Amino acid sequence: MREGIHSVREAPVAGKRVLLRVDFNVPLDTARGAPRVANDLRIRSALPTLELLHKNGAAKIIILTDIGRPGGKVVEGLRVAPIAEHLHTLTSVPFEMEENLRFDPGEESNSAEYAQKLAALGDLYVNEAFANSHRSHASMVALSALLPSYAGLRFEEEIERLSAALTPPPGAIALIGGAKFETKEPLITKLLSLYAQVLLGGALANDVIKARGLPFGSSLISTLPVPTEVATNEHLVVPTDAIFAEEGSNAERLGLVFDIRANESIIDIGPETSKKWSTVITQAPFVLWNGPMGVYERGYRDGTEALASALSASGTRAVVGGGDTAAAVEKYTFDAEKVFISTGGGAMLEFLVRGTLPAIDALRQH
Ligand code: 3PG
Repeated sequence: MREGIHSVREAPVAGKRVLLRVDFNVPLDTARGAPRVANDLRIRSALPTLELLHKNGAAKIIILTDIGRPGGKVVEGLRVAPIAEHLHTLTSVPFEMEENLRFDPGEESNSAEYAQKLAALGDLYVNEAFANSHRSHASMVALSALLPSYAGLRFEEEIERLSAALTPPPGAIALIGGAKFETKEPLITKLLSLYAQVLLGGALANDVIKARGLPFGSSLISTLPVPTEVATNEHLVVPTDAIFAEEGSNAERLGLVFDIRANESIIDIGPETSKKWSTVITQAPFVLWNGPMGVYERGYRDGTEALASALSASGTRAVVGGGDTAAAVEKYTFDAEKVFISTGGGAMLEFLVRGTLPAIDALRQH
């Protein structure tokens, strides 16, 4: 474990009230009435720590989480009840769950008073909320200073696995999807210095296609241009074929990227790219992957799923993160020893850029 951070394994919890900060900010399905947990990776990931606390004799386990972005006020659809209910179906360990922390404006403002209110509920603090560790919020940062503080088992593993991704073996590849090149540029630049190739999918690729002087039709483009030294880097790879959608219609067309028409936008990588990249994944000693290859929320999932399937069949070592990407890989059978699914989306990306996060620093200091 990282220097200066105490592990929950060493926490003297017997007879104590433990505040267990988790990130159960999970997708909720509201289509059939009452909200139900749609993906419980983050909930399952916290179970070993919850069970360890119980086994080691914690008198009371009080779970703290955020859900969604209620903006400091009560939002009925973002209450913890369906999540607590789901957790009860996964474990018999008794626990209490506080209401969504973000209902109080003090959480997001890292308020000392709010942290004190939380601290009064427990004797010890365990952070098992890696996915929220890039947020300097009261229950993540200020609270650490007020109680003896420990990292949860999964929190430790996230740091270890993501730190290892920053020293990849020769020939390793990074696969980055999603949108907003300007926010991901520091990461892409860093990965280009560490990885043999960085394969770009999603709208990120559109920006590089544009910067390379190729036609991009009506594809989604970031506001800031890609710096020339990044766009011209020969280790930065973009799709060669793609699925195009026509503006204002449901018509789709498959074509080579440079054949895009003015009224079309790129919505997924094409089958030729999927095939080539699947081979690259299969032959690589290590793969780092965050972000879908297509417009996932609109159902353009074929490219992402083809690569997820190739990864799981390959036996390649990998670290995968981001909600949609993790969910795609989880659809397939893979060796959990080899493929680590990070619970972090934004936290994973920020850790890879900075090598630490505000909540990790807070745990180190206390
Ligand atoms: C996440 O789901 O990635 C974390 O809980 C952070 O959520 P936020 O982006 O709403 O702060």
